[in-house]
Amino acid sequence: MASLINLLVIGSMALGWSEITLASPHNASPRPSYSSFTYTQVTSNVYATPLSTSVSFATPFAPDPTQATSLLPSGITYTTYSSDPSATATADGQYGQSAYVALWENYSFASTPPFTTTVSATPVATSELVLPPALYNSVPDTGLKLPSDFIWGISSSSWQIEGALQLEGRGPSVLDSIGNQLSTEAPDRSDANVANMHYFLYEQDIARLAAAGIPYYSFSLSWSRILPFGVAGSPVNTQGLDHYDDLINTCLRYGVIPIVTLLHVDMPTAVQADLDALPEHFLYYAKIAMTRFADRVPYWVTFNEPNIGVGTMLQKYDDLTQVLLAHADVYTWYKHTLNGTGQITVKFANNLAVPLDVQKNTHVAAAHRYQDILLGIMSNPLFLGTQYPDAALTTANLMTPLTDDQLKRINGTVDFWSFDPYTAQYASPPPQGTEACAANTSDPLWPTCVTLSNIQANGWLMGQASNAYAYLAPQYVRQQLGYIWNTFRPPGILIAEFGFNPFLEANRTLDAQRYDLERTLYYQGFLTETLKSIHEDGVRVIGALAWSLADNNEFGSYAEQYGLQTVNRTDGIFTRTYKRSLFDYIDFFRRHIT
Ligand SMILES: *[C@@H]1O[C@H](CO)[C@@H](O)[C@H](O)[C@H]1NC(C)=O
Ligand SMILES: *[C@@H]1O[C@H](CO)[C@@H](O)[C@H](O)[C@H]1NC(C)=O
Ligand SMILES: *[C@@H]1O[C@H](CO)[C@@H](O)[C@H](O)[C@H]1NC(C)=O
Ligand SMILES: *[C@@H]1O[C@H](CO)[C@@H](O)[C@H](O)[C@H]1NC(C)=O
Ligand SMILES: *[C@@H]1O[C@H](CO)[C@@H](O)[C@H](O)[C@H]1NC(C)=O
Ligand SMILES: *[C@@H]1O[C@H](CO)[C@@H](O)[C@H](O)[C@H]1NC(C)=O
Repeated sequence: MASLINLLVIGSMALGWSEITLASPHNASPRPSYSSFTYTQVTSNVYATPLSTSVSFATPFAPDPTQATSLLPSGITYTTYSSDPSATATADGQYGQSAYVALWENYSFASTPPFTTTVSATPVATSELVLPPALYNSVPDTGLKLPSDFIWGISSSSWQIEGALQLEGRGPSVLDSIGNQLSTEAPDRSDANVANMHYFLYEQDIARLAAAGIPYYSFSLSWSRILPFGVAGSPVNTQGLDHYDDLINTCLRYGVIPIVTLLHVDMPTAVQADLDALPEHFLYYAKIAMTRFADRVPYWVTFNEPNIGVGTMLQKYDDLTQVLLAHADVYTWYKHTLNGTGQITVKFANNLAVPLDVQKNTHVAAAHRYQDILLGIMSNPLFLGTQYPDAALTTANLMTPLTDDQLKRINGTVDFWSFDPYTAQYASPPPQGTEACAANTSDPLWPTCVTLSNIQANGWLMGQASNAYAYLAPQYVRQQLGYIWNTFRPPGILIAEFGFNPFLEANRTLDAQRYDLERTLYYQGFLTETLKSIHEDGVRVIGALAWSLADNNEFGSYAEQYGLQTVNRTDGIFTRTYKRSLFDYIDFFRRHIT
């Protein structure tokens, strides 16, 4: 009974919510005895601590927008577009209202946004902020601490949460083919025309972060909201630009620090059709966004996960060269023309490949090959100033080597490492042989040419499985961070996304969805191993951002739930509900930041 008594006592103390410690087992023989039985209250109402003040930065990170806009090319048109499809009648030029409506002529979505104006935030009810029962299954505390300036919070992306795809002048993006009834590509998957209706509910979403006490929010801008036609020289949609200005100001007003991503997969369709000119189009877009917002944004991400973007926003691997150049040019312009003092990064996807059998050279080589092709292609030039990895250059039709000029342009244009290490996986050579695969672009394993699995050589799964690919496998977190730190030697590492989607979570009752113990264990295990990486392995980890703000459209599916909040998409008001993991996640940082 010792541990249960401990729980009872601590459960009734206001400050002890997260402090449960289990008494050490004793060896004395039990001595049964009777006493009078009484009930004890185990539950106590402890409340989240909200953010207390708005944020203002002593020194802006860039010149005031009124001044910065003088850096823009001359002759930019600022306009608005109507989503009324009947406004097609007249030929009004390349970028007129008719041309705007024509952008959408081949799209039809099954869902329709239920409202079309911004909803004001209402205070979050106290009843929503009561913490869940104290956690009995806590990951043991190491006593290690995170640095006081650790960046921690939650992340999202525009297309996955906004909805309102065709409203207020937004143009089509490459992701809008998902669920498009007029396309053969993916009509059976869920469109994002409603999603979480965040485009009109953002004030409430920010109010909810602040009420729970989350200090950083990482989100992305929709390029095609700001530039419906996407390309360099095309008009700015003022409604889109003003929207993000208000989103950033709303964050600051509530005390939440914004981290802004310029492109999270939803590239304008016209830009995808012209990828050789990506640097030109991206710089034009970035200048418009940065001259308007950069005074209030301390951290920028140019591209989200471009290293797995072939097939969605990119057409072929060689397009990654254009991504690197586009990123580099924006970095250089921000630092040396806008004189921005914030920090800029590009964020990669990587689930560490671990050799299935570390004793076998071929397995170690397979793991290295996978990492080289996933990360080396982008990080060799950016972080090391070196050419693409040999594994990439010797794989058929993969990468054309960078010229010396390109390498100079890219080298060092990044302030810290940022990536999304959800899980790990085992690598071994493919049965057909690495070389045969690398020479054959039709091989299903091309270009990595590595067999991946989550089953250990001895037959056990590496950890608790999720609904899709993530595993609860914190035992690999230190190697994941150590690989990056020691291979690319960045100044610091931001874990820009990490998360877990429990098996069939969407099929559970609301009460059961809220009690998401596995997600809590995922975050606690991951962060505990991160602490060891910092203190025992000497790795500089600067922050961690959970994926995701709320359950959302995971590229065609609402059933893949990574949210730290649920969203009710059928009650007409899109009620959000905090899950237990959100409070446990916050608690971890409250306990571990010095
Ligand atoms: C719509 O599809 C038609 C038929 O494929 C094509 O001719 C037209 O260019 C498309 N419109 C746009 C804006 O892409
Ligand atoms: C950026 O700094 C340079 C060099 O100090 C200066 O000439 C330029 O005017 C600055 N640009 C802006 C937009 O403040
Ligand atoms: C990359 O930048 C570093 C630091 O400025 C420099 O030492 C190195 O020579 C550069 N490499 C190339 C290939 O430009
Ligand atoms: C290339 O891979 C495809 C798909 O596995 C296979 O059908 C074909 O025979 C391979 N070609 C060669 C030359 O091995
Ligand atoms: C889970 O819910 C989805 C959507 O309602 C349904 O299609 C599916 O059959 C359910 N799966 C199970 C195993 O209940
Ligand atoms: C969503 O809201 C509807 C209408 O209020 C309700 O019937 C349903 O149970 C809710 N779903 C969940 C999962 O809470």
